[in-house]
Amino acid sequence: MMQADSVLNLFECLPLGVAKEIIGKGLLPINAQATMIGNTLITHAAMELDSVRQYVSYLKICLETSCAVAEIYDLSSPPGSEGKKQHMRHTGPADVMQIANYLYVLDSYGVPGVLLECGTSHGYSSCCLSHACAMLGRKLYTADSFEGLPSTSTNEPFFEEGDYASSLESVKKSIHMLGRPDTTTYVRGWFMESLKNWEIDLALLWVDVDLYNSAKDVVTNTLAKLSRKSGFVVHEFTDFHNRVPPRDVAIPPNAIYDVLETKGIVWDSVHLHRYLGAILFKGAVAKDSFKVLPGLMSTLQSLDMRSRVYQELCESRTVRWAFALKKRFLKK
Ligand SMILES: C[S@@+](CC[C@H](N)C(=O)[O-])C[C@H]1O[C@@H](n2cnc3c(N)ncnc32)[C@H](O)[C@@H]1O
Repeated sequence: MMQADSVLNLFECLPLGVAKEIIGKGLLPINAQATMIGNTLITHAAMELDSVRQYVSYLKICLETSCAVAEIYDLSSPPGSEGKKQHMRHTGPADVMQIANYLYVLDSYGVPGVLLECGTSHGYSSCCLSHACAMLGRKLYTADSFEGLPSTSTNEPFFEEGDYASSLESVKKSIHMLGRPDTTTYVRGWFMESLKNWEIDLALLWVDVDLYNSAKDVVTNTLAKLSRKSGFVVHEFTDFHNRVPPRDVAIPPNAIYDVLETKGIVWDSVHLHRYLGAILFKGAVAKDSFKVLPGLMSTLQSLDMRSRVYQELCESRTVRWAFALKKRFLKK
């Protein structure tokens, strides 16, 4: 699990231009605690720097967008389906924000390529990441059978063939309503076939495919085109008890490790949030950027008008003032 308050090198955890300006202006030393880095970014002095204002704006817009898209997906899901296979989304803002943040960092280092998402389902993460990509001028490729999971093995008992199915047509509709169709390309079919001879440079690979064999197909077919300054963000990194399963369990991260191991490629891995983790090549840039984001995200969330009003309400010293606030803001 990540230590929120570890001491980090700014060049290892922030976009390049941001780290340079923050240090150059003397706002922070080269090494600082994660929370201090997050808090400094939203100070007036830091926000006067173009690189910081651009970065914070990007994160804030991505965050608000991913929350709004999540609300619509939740409203469109069958009542009571939250956390179940019938739900319309299987990731959330905390997942997509880690990917969006690392994309920004990769951009600052000039890492070329598209974002490849494997595992679209109803397209929640695709919608959110299409916005992030559009802001950065990158392309998003999203790959799925659009028929749900393939047949599963007996050592993956939670999953069944056809789980998470959504048709390509309905995903396209969602992306038109809630995402950026202009940056999104769909790759339809079983990964074994659809990703064969993959030829497009990849900045980052987002693997949300549930099954060991599916992840193996993804990595085997695309590894050659994936930037060594980056790596994978992957789901099923932990089990239902928030533990990282042993290496011999059939889960997607182990499939990735198995492929990397056979090729003699060295990696680092980090647990990010619930089922989410990152597997990064040795030469990956700013590997600690995943550690700064959670604190920064809650700060950005607390700037939301509803949060501010709620905070004031909680802190209001008289009942009359509390009612006045409630009347003024919360009913609007
Ligand atoms: C958990 S869902 C993805 C959830 C989605 N990222 C979200 O944010 O809601 C997993 C998806 O992986 C796809 N998938 C798994 N194995 C596959 C394979 N071998 N070929 C093609 N698609 C596959 C399934 O069709 C399913 O839609």
